[in-house]
Amino acid sequence: MRKYFFTAATAALLTGFAASVSADDLKGPIPYPMPKQVATTKPILVPYDLLFHYGTLPKYFEPAWVSELVKAGKLPPVEQRLPPVPLIVDTSMTADGVGQYGGTLRHVIGGRPQGWNWIAGQNQGYGGTEHSTMMCLVRTGPMWMLTPEKVEPLPQLAKSWEWSKDGHDLTMHLIEGAKWSDGAPFNADDVMFAWDDNIADPNVPAWTKAGAFGDGTSLQKIDDNTIKWTFKDAFPVTTIYQMALNNFCPGPAHILKPLHPKYNKNATYDSYLKALPPDHLPAVTMGPWVPVAYKPDQIIVMRRNPYFFEVDDHGNQLPYLDEISFKLSTWEDRTIETVAGTADYTNMEDPNLYLESLKKAAEPGFPNNLYWSVRSLSWRVDFNLSTVCGVQSDADKAKRDLFRKFDFRRAISQGVDRDSMSQSLVRGPFVAPFAGGLHVETDFFKPESVVYYPYDPATSKALLKQLGFQPGSDGNLVWGSGTLKGQPLEFTMTYGSHPAYALLADSFISMMHELGIKIVPQPTQGDGEQDIQETCKWDAMLWRGDRPYTVPLAQLQDLAPLSPKAPQWHQGTADKPQELLPFESTLIDILNKVRTEPDGAKRAALLNQYNHVFTQNIYTVGLVTVPAALITNKRFKDVPAGAPVLAWQWSEDNTIRERMWIKPEDQAQVPELLPGEMPGVN
Ligand code: GLA
Repeated sequence: MRKYFFTAATAALLTGFAASVSADDLKGPIPYPMPKQVATTKPILVPYDLLFHYGTLPKYFEPAWVSELVKAGKLPPVEQRLPPVPLIVDTSMTADGVGQYGGTLRHVIGGRPQGWNWIAGQNQGYGGTEHSTMMCLVRTGPMWMLTPEKVEPLPQLAKSWEWSKDGHDLTMHLIEGAKWSDGAPFNADDVMFAWDDNIADPNVPAWTKAGAFGDGTSLQKIDDNTIKWTFKDAFPVTTIYQMALNNFCPGPAHILKPLHPKYNKNATYDSYLKALPPDHLPAVTMGPWVPVAYKPDQIIVMRRNPYFFEVDDHGNQLPYLDEISFKLSTWEDRTIETVAGTADYTNMEDPNLYLESLKKAAEPGFPNNLYWSVRSLSWRVDFNLSTVCGVQSDADKAKRDLFRKFDFRRAISQGVDRDSMSQSLVRGPFVAPFAGGLHVETDFFKPESVVYYPYDPATSKALLKQLGFQPGSDGNLVWGSGTLKGQPLEFTMTYGSHPAYALLADSFISMMHELGIKIVPQPTQGDGEQDIQETCKWDAMLWRGDRPYTVPLAQLQDLAPLSPKAPQWHQGTADKPQELLPFESTLIDILNKVRTEPDGAKRAALLNQYNHVFTQNIYTVGLVTVPAALITNKRFKDVPAGAPVLAWQWSEDNTIRERMWIKPEDQAQVPELLPGEMPGVN
């Protein structure tokens, strides 16, 4: 690394003349140091058609206290509340068999609910709230436990689907005769309202936009229980993966339509978005539980949905648990409380807590089961590459132009000592270097796809010098030309409130300081970084990758500029598309091929190609990648062993919580908060 100081190119640079750095001065790329997997648990795999299927059973059952409500005339009988053909969930292959009714599950979350209008884009505070309320056309979470011959999205509100011969039409058959939690019928009108007036309405900030389903895609109602997609391309098979959470999960049209500005001239888009605030209760859902109580900054309580459309294979209406609650606290507290036994469920994802939690887990009487997942939490620093969104001044423009230069991103990346950053997060074998791009422990990932630029501050310094930066009086680099000439090389970095973010930010900032770059930290509260991210008014952002990078098929639309909103570090606006960097067109081409590639192996090859182009161009600066662990209280039966914290979905969907149960004799350990309460009834 000292070599840099003795090269001719450096000598020329030191005299202040523009000179190029010879390739000899730059170190890397080198092979990606693929980490060893932290031991994970072997799951019980279940065939696709057995895990979930639509069918009928001779008789249906419900908890005794619910039968009392039926007897009292407060609820219709269970067979009238269920659809004629309910979704049957397998228990024959579970570790603990058919469940029993009753009991409560205590979640803790760090988010705060915006409201119940999820189809318009509101969140409910994350951490499993959304998996309780939103039901979607298809379900992807439990796909991790499918036997290999068929690993595809599972039915949810769509019970089956088929392609036309030419592959341009996809007909979906919806569940028939199912009801919302207030007893109103669910049908194709709910789906069409989701599409026409939310996803395809540019004024609604829905989770996904129509463009994400492919250019020119349309959706129409055929009859009350049938919808038809029409696509420009033939067989865009991966589109089905995008019809799961959070992308296509209808809200109750009978409640929301009258509040939408298209149907109500007194409404605005803003009033519509906020029409169902968190205290507007009970919320109306298709999910297993229904929000019935909310205290700001304290708790959300949800109770069983009397109309939920799933049963187990013995005819018991699900869920088994009568109640779940979400204490409104911090994400770190979720793990601390679960480990201590005062909460029941956590995705342990704060590496600073790992060693302490593992020590507790080794003590006799530890109240939980703990399953490690693969490394699916990967942090990176995004530089804002947009020239059209959030550029407020000439200084912003100059910075964005700099961020768009490969040599700058390379200088940053090679200034990051990922090994020491890993150990600063948590000692031991957990954390590994991450080059950006796709997560390294997926079933299709090939380490050879990564172009890995190793730590070498001398390379970084040479590149920065070549970009025209010179040392200022305080050792900080200054701009050599342009609007910012003579000013320090300085930018802001926004990051979230998990402690891991702060630890990583500190270590990144000090590594950048070594290069002469000043970073102004901008920590946020709660989910604040998300709001800032959407405005495009930021320089750099420290971010933890989510599903798009673990299961790209689930969120292809987030992986390249396929719409103005994505990727989050290069956004366009409604009227100005992104100014593409040349390699971004290559990424788009690859993703368009993935969308219509029916062969899984060929899709995997294309995704590795995508990863190659991504990492070769250091599209974002990867930092480190970490495994997470699922920790659940031992009271709960049938938490599927080996359930991943993050795969096709977060664990809260992966564990099939509606099938988890507590033995009656253990239920009193944690009493329900609102026993006997039934949404909309009492
Ligand atoms: C947050 C948490 C995750 C998971 C998801 C579910 O992102 O950090 O562990 O619970 O919510 O949406």
